[in-house]
Amino acid sequence: MRLSVIGCGYLGAVHAAAMASIGHDVVGIDVDARKIDSLAKGQAPFFEPGLAEILTEGIASGRLRFTTDMAEASGAKVHFVGVGTPQQKDGYAADLTYVNAAVDALLPYLSAGDIIAGKSTVPVGTAAGLTPRVEATGATLVWNPEFLREGWAVKDTIDPDRLVVGVPSGEPGVLAADVLREVYHPAVAKNTPFIVTDLATAELVKVAANAFLATKISFINAMAEIAEVTGADVTQLADAIGHDARIGRRFLGAGIGFGGGCLPKDIRAFSARAEELGKGESVAFLREIDAINLRRRDRAVEIVSDALGGSVFQKNVTVLGAAFKPHSDDIRDSPALDVAVRLHGLGAHVTITDPAAIPNAQRVHPQLTYIEDRDEALRSADAVIVVTEWDEYRHDLAPEHAATLTAGRIIVDGRNCLDAGAWRDAGWTYYGMGRP
Ligand code: UDX
Repeated sequence: MRLSVIGCGYLGAVHAAAMASIGHDVVGIDVDARKIDSLAKGQAPFFEPGLAEILTEGIASGRLRFTTDMAEASGAKVHFVGVGTPQQKDGYAADLTYVNAAVDALLPYLSAGDIIAGKSTVPVGTAAGLTPRVEATGATLVWNPEFLREGWAVKDTIDPDRLVVGVPSGEPGVLAADVLREVYHPAVAKNTPFIVTDLATAELVKVAANAFLATKISFINAMAEIAEVTGADVTQLADAIGHDARIGRRFLGAGIGFGGGCLPKDIRAFSARAEELGKGESVAFLREIDAINLRRRDRAVEIVSDALGGSVFQKNVTVLGAAFKPHSDDIRDSPALDVAVRLHGLGAHVTITDPAAIPNAQRVHPQLTYIEDRDEALRSADAVIVVTEWDEYRHDLAPEHAATLTAGRIIVDGRNCLDAGAWRDAGWTYYGMGRP
């Protein structure tokens, strides 16, 4: 099928390449000429396992192209819109400028029977607002939210847990759902749940899923706060409650909390939207989820400071990690980098290392010291803090070896990802988050 993908950021670039890899004829369109040049050469503009391969294959097969010219969308049957919906500069609400601009720019190139499938995460009600403009062209607007995780984006796009399509009522909606089934044929053939619903539900599914995930993480971090004043161990608590199948162990990792380009902004935008709808109280707890999350960063800084005798001033602190999570070079709202910046602000000599995110971190925080080589970064540290649970730190860094490099033997495990016993046995003072 001929498809266009408007917006070639994280979501759109992966979607375009993934759709070409399952046999579709895809054109990716973006206003950013630099991004398009790089994608057209098969170069992923960000770190995502497997993306470079499917980009190169797609381009070589002739099924995948990239352009800045919106006119090239004409002739496609489905137009996916995957542009960004960032947090507004002066508030919590989502900025819909790019969604509106993308849809408006696309309108002149639509033919009757075409489908616009919105993929961006938007406040509930956005699709209903766009529908009259789209329907005036004879096209149908559906909402098809994306649940991909960074680091797993290719897999999550080709082989998702579930597919959700919000469609308008009546025949156009039924037909559009059938076309989307055809688009996602490999997943549909595997009996992946394919949920057809109305537009508002589809928009809400996405924000509700992210709100739930954020809530799970902040719940366990709240338990970590209680554990810290009672001597309990939050990791054992998470194991014990996680055995209850109704609760489940995943996303109960206590530590310095969640970050990234989605969870923080999405829960804030959801709060803002609920307030606009006069239902702020229904999701008032999300403000608390956000507050708990941000407190964990303060707590990590406090642990380092206490461990160093009450102040980090002029102490050498090595920060292991900068990305908001492993297998990513993304530093958007990264708790890891925030902890590093706070330590620096308190006068510590901070050295940061990360296997993938140094170039991005350096661009935003040039005042910090970055060293690519992990062992070099550890040299002379008075304290070490792990803030991103890369395998390079959790598995590959032997405490005995680390002890030969550092000045002090203080390790703060901001992700509760290390073997505390092994570090203690090697002579380190180990501090976890919510652990005795
Ligand atoms: C998330 C959602 O998972 C995805 O479905 C949605 O489409 C986009 O947002 P992503 O931002 O890639 O994906 O990251 P995710 O793996 O969900 O992690 C988010 C943050 O939560 C990371 O900072 C991670 O370190 C943190 N986290 C995760 C915890 O602190 N504890 C956990 O137990 C799990």
